[in-house]
Amino acid sequence: MKVLVIGASRGIGLEFVKQYRAEGHEVTATARDEAALQTLKALGAKALPLELLDAKSCAGLAWQLDGLQFDTIWLNAGVFGTDVAAPSAPTQAEFDLVMHTNVLGPMRVLPALTDCLAQNAKLALLSSRMGSMALRTSPNAWLYRASKAAANSLLKDAAIAFGGRASCVAFHPGWVKTDMGGSSADLSPAEAVASMRAVLARVGPQDNGAFLNFDGKLLPW
Ligand SMILES: NC(=O)c1ccc[n+]([C@@H]2O[C@H](COP(=O)([O-])OP(=O)(O)OC[C@H]3O[C@@H](n4cnc5c(N)ncnc54)[C@H](OP(=O)(O)O)[C@@H]3O)[C@@H](O)[C@H]2O)c1
Repeated sequence: MKVLVIGASRGIGLEFVKQYRAEGHEVTATARDEAALQTLKALGAKALPLELLDAKSCAGLAWQLDGLQFDTIWLNAGVFGTDVAAPSAPTQAEFDLVMHTNVLGPMRVLPALTDCLAQNAKLALLSSRMGSMALRTSPNAWLYRASKAAANSLLKDAAIAFGGRASCVAFHPGWVKTDMGGSSADLSPAEAVASMRAVLARVGPQDNGAFLNFDGKLLPW
């Protein structure tokens, strides 16, 4: 199987690379610094530089992927940003970092994937249940929540645009022990990634446009 992981320097993204490589799959993965690119190469992945905040870097992704076809794509890169609770205004810089990474980033990457979808490909966006409107009970981190709600909207549009060629889903990975999730989180990256990989392996056209928990349960938007 041919796998692409966008944002694979650490945390959940790096764990995807490790698990797919351990099973001998052909993995292409992106990172934005040289040390991380070397780590990915050492794992046997094809490592591509990608900085989501840089339009030129994102534009370069299309030609770096030229001619490649992927069965499985994980759009993983994301930031939590400053934990501003409603109704406190984020600064312009706080807003730009989170929205540019979590929303503009996928909007720049998805076009580059148009010609890279193998027959019946599966494309998964790492969202968060914090982006769900239906599950909303807290006003904390409203900037991150807004960015993941917007990312969910992108996933729905991608599901329509790519439907018939690929099955596109959004995932909540669980609360995962990474730099973002912190050490008190519920799941190790290994547990979360193993579960999401197994769920995505079962995803088909009937699931196109779904929002899934890491264990496969359907989440409300
Ligand atoms: N951990 C959780 O509990 C949790 C819960 C819900 C959803 N999620 C989502 O799951 C995904 C992965 O989270 P994680 O916990 O693994 O986070 P993480 O440990 O903070 O890793 C974030 C990844 O995104 C990359 N990234 C960030 N900004 C980027 C940019 N501008 N350009 C390219 N790459 C960029 C990072 O690269 P660098 O190393 O270069 O910064 C890193 O590879 C995120 O989308 C997150 O929102 C996580």
